[in-house]
Amino acid sequence: MNDLLIAYRLLRKKFKAGMFSKDFYEAFSYVEEKAFFKDLVYGVLRRQEYLDWVVNKFLRKKDIPPSIRTILRIGAYLILFTNIPNYAVVNETVNLVEKQSFRKLVNAILRNITKIPYLEHPKELYLKYSVPKWLLEYWKKFLPNDYLYSMLEYNLIPIKTSARVNKRKLTREQLNLENIKYTAHSPIGIIFETFNISPWELKEYIKGDITYQSESSQLIPLLIDFNKDEFILDACSAPGGKATEILELSDVKLYVNDIDASRIELVRNQFKRLNLRAEKFTIKDARKLNFDFKFDKILVDAPCSSLGTARRNPEVLRRQSPKNIKFLSSLQKEILTNIWTLLKQKGLLVYSTCTVTYEENTMNVKWLVEEKGGKIIDIRDKLENFKVKYLWDGYGALFYPDENLTPFYVSIILKE
Ligand SMILES: C[S@@+](CC[C@H](N)C(=O)[O-])C[C@H]1O[C@@H](n2cnc3c(N)ncnc32)[C@H](O)[C@@H]1O
Repeated sequence: MNDLLIAYRLLRKKFKAGMFSKDFYEAFSYVEEKAFFKDLVYGVLRRQEYLDWVVNKFLRKKDIPPSIRTILRIGAYLILFTNIPNYAVVNETVNLVEKQSFRKLVNAILRNITKIPYLEHPKELYLKYSVPKWLLEYWKKFLPNDYLYSMLEYNLIPIKTSARVNKRKLTREQLNLENIKYTAHSPIGIIFETFNISPWELKEYIKGDITYQSESSQLIPLLIDFNKDEFILDACSAPGGKATEILELSDVKLYVNDIDASRIELVRNQFKRLNLRAEKFTIKDARKLNFDFKFDKILVDAPCSSLGTARRNPEVLRRQSPKNIKFLSSLQKEILTNIWTLLKQKGLLVYSTCTVTYEENTMNVKWLVEEKGGKIIDIRDKLENFKVKYLWDGYGALFYPDENLTPFYVSIILKE
């Protein structure tokens, strides 16, 4: 079980650094196709609070070194959530313990866990759903119960990989791929049930027939009516999911910006792979971006706390803090302030985030409208056409999560 050691090292890194390092993503994509590894690392993160609760029942002294905590989480996860024989899990997990003095303890706790007859449910919701306590209390303040519970339930279920088909080349019905389903909301989306090879080696991806993108993200450009030769700005574009989609959907003059030069390279590569042409690429802070003409439509797919992506990235829930949400909210406000000046009269601003916070969504759009005088476009009919369930706050829509849709907020504002 070499995967176990890799998983342990990655999970340890996270606890040391407080968040995932770049190494995680590099190592992870290297072994992407290893389903067991993915299930293990993400599973441990997805169930972290719950696993700690189970482990703590058998610990007299709860204050144990982080390395031992990680090893116990791995062992508890494998025992409770996989079919691997218990004796193998206990042996292999105990082998991860470097300090001799802790081996006995880990062995004893894991053996106790193997004797648990069925999965118990703690009364406290944050333990049951494995969410940091502060975050659950925060969400309760502004989310209706049905939204909250639906999100918490779905967050425990890993999400399958989605992609969109390149509308310029083909429809999803013309794709010759096995093991796919169609997305329920996006008319250009597919869901992979399984992968036989690495997603990046798939012929359809290399040829530019498909692009990996979440279904929620696919829906954002589909909510906008683009007209030929309009001037469009994608202010925060990397890695280019929506920028490339916009050009697959329409013949517009697209300006593609991101603050991060290495991430703009990713966008350029996607444009090359898809054989698309942007009017211009810029590497600028959207708070200072400037052009000597104005745009018909601008997309601000803002840097955000990404809480809606927890099914793909369970660590995001633990990486965030009230302080960071506040910071991101004011960064977004500054971006919106500048971007508003780049928009034509009668132009449209599309603001979206993949997060579920009041400060980054409702509060920012409310502020923009009150401060700058924009008019909210009612997108509810459009969303209903795509059979999307949403929460409407009077400013924008927050998608309800479902089997394949992850929370996403979108607002369209007209500059009168
Ligand atoms: C949510 S991602 C955009 C995803 C992209 N629109 C897509 O669909 O693939 C946010 C992006 O904003 C960029 N960003 C962060 N701060 C920025 C700023 N001040 N100005 C411009 N871009 C910024 C980040 O580098 C990141 O690539």
